[in-house]
Amino acid sequence: MKSFEKLLLENKAWAAERIEEDPEFFHRLENIQRPEFLWIGCSDSRVPANEITGTQPGEIFVHRNIANLVVHTDLNLLSVLEYAVHVLEVKHIIVCGHYGCGGVKAAIGHHSMGTINKWLRNIKDVYRLHQTEIESLTDDDSQLDKLIELNVKEQVLNLAKTSIVQKSWKHHNRPSLHGWVYRLSDGILHPVELIEPNSPMDHIYEYDNL
Ligand code: CO
Repeated sequence: MKSFEKLLLENKAWAAERIEEDPEFFHRLENIQRPEFLWIGCSDSRVPANEITGTQPGEIFVHRNIANLVVHTDLNLLSVLEYAVHVLEVKHIIVCGHYGCGGVKAAIGHHSMGTINKWLRNIKDVYRLHQTEIESLTDDDSQLDKLIELNVKEQVLNLAKTSIVQKSWKHHNRPSLHGWVYRLSDGILHPVELIEPNSPMDHIYEYDNL
């Protein structure tokens, strides 16, 4: 059997198990999607949103990209964000990074990789913003872990800077913005940031006509 054929076979078994456990499982999900969470995670195959949080289909709206970035010119991310906040009305947005992230590792290095350089440059900017704090750590692993945490915090801040989030904060007092880092070695999520609705931020980012 080819590897992809196994996926299709496993899918049939999975669907049959769901129906056996709960005959209404698919019927319930067919007509409505009302997740409480938007997940912005890394594309890394080892950090699947549903599995590590014990959640089911229908519970988390998911966007993933290399190194879980919130880039203000990313039409894909912005479309997901706007839909999640204004239509699905999610209560929480979780930016989830992970220790050992290959994207962040590549960004801390100096090897050119073509198109992906432009994406990873966003992480180099995070490094430059926090250079003193990162370089105060003496070993490479600690510096990488610190950049991974700071990158998550910076992406959470990027969410707060958007008119999409600020408008929803003003009119609906949601969503809360969370930054978590997942540890591959033990499977545990570590919260590193939480911005509640209408928290004060640098004034330059605030809109006054939302
Ligand atoms: Co990663």
